[in-house]
Amino acid sequence: MARNKIALIGAGNIGGTLAHLAALKGLGDIVLFDVVEGVPQGKALDLSQCGPVEGFDAKITGTNDYADIKDADVIIVTAGVARKPGMSRDDLLGINLKVMKAVGEGIKANAPNAFVICITNPLDAMVWALREFSGLPHNKVVGMAGVLDSARFSHFLAEEFQVSVKEVNSFVLGGHGDTMVPVVEYSTVAGIPIPDLIKMGRSTQERIDAIVQRTRSGGGEIVGLLKTGSAFYAPATSGIAMAEAYLYDQKRLLPCAAHLTGQYGVDNLYVGVPVIIGKDGVEQVVEIELDAAAKANLQVSVDAVKELLVACKGIDNSLA
Ligand code: APR
Repeated sequence: MARNKIALIGAGNIGGTLAHLAALKGLGDIVLFDVVEGVPQGKALDLSQCGPVEGFDAKITGTNDYADIKDADVIIVTAGVARKPGMSRDDLLGINLKVMKAVGEGIKANAPNAFVICITNPLDAMVWALREFSGLPHNKVVGMAGVLDSARFSHFLAEEFQVSVKEVNSFVLGGHGDTMVPVVEYSTVAGIPIPDLIKMGRSTQERIDAIVQRTRSGGGEIVGLLKTGSAFYAPATSGIAMAEAYLYDQKRLLPCAAHLTGQYGVDNLYVGVPVIIGKDGVEQVVEIELDAAAKANLQVSVDAVKELLVACKGIDNSLA
């Protein structure tokens, strides 16, 4: 059986890390694409030379030609610019929208059957635009945000409760921005919901509120420290988890930016919600019961995503 083909559009910090992880995990042969000449080729050569040490045989190539992503099974998109200190994800909109147009057209022409995972920010708007430009079915184009946001939330919760991250299951909904909604009621340690742990005296509401806030600005905290770019290890790991769910038909229930058609009262928008990912891409959107506060927070998040789409349509009228 032929190996899977994984195409990575954007060979920057996240793209390079994705390629490394995909090779180490044996997901398939890897094509790194970038507009900058030399960078994808150089990274591909460097990564290929990990093979003899790590014992992987994946073929890793770098390219500036979309023809080389032909018939890819999975495509992960990180092309565009990343944040610098003082920038919000939304500040990237104008530049990255143009990038999504080029990427969407490249995918449409060369790999229309791929499962496409978008990571480029501002995520909820970029994944929507990428779907529009590529014309792929909505279930085959998904955005990576919730897996990362809930990983951040889980990391902070594991520290707070001084337990292994393996015991923590956390839940984040909404857009990938300051309006994201970490849902405390559905977040657990070994199956025990956080509100019960507060009642048991294991933490306090104030401390959990601070963790929720730190999760919301988790990306910004890293941008402030790095100064020259944004987070890349955890975003790449999160994208790979989604690719594995598809390639291995794992039916994982993951929070992703998915296209909604009425679920959660939202129509024709990409918003972060729990979905099941398997061999057909996004196989199901799972609607969970939300309390009034979570519903109100989700609405704020949805309104923020809507505003970004209006801005996208203003910039590129083929989207209107
Ligand atoms: N087509 C392909 N690649 C492009 C294009 C394009 N039109 N425009 C830019 N790129 C490439 C850049 O040359 C660069 O190599 O995208 C890469 C982006 O890499 P980095 O700047 O290192 O950014 P990274 O940290 O990987 O983040 C990428 O993901 O999380 C988001 O906010 C982040 O939008 C950003 C994206």
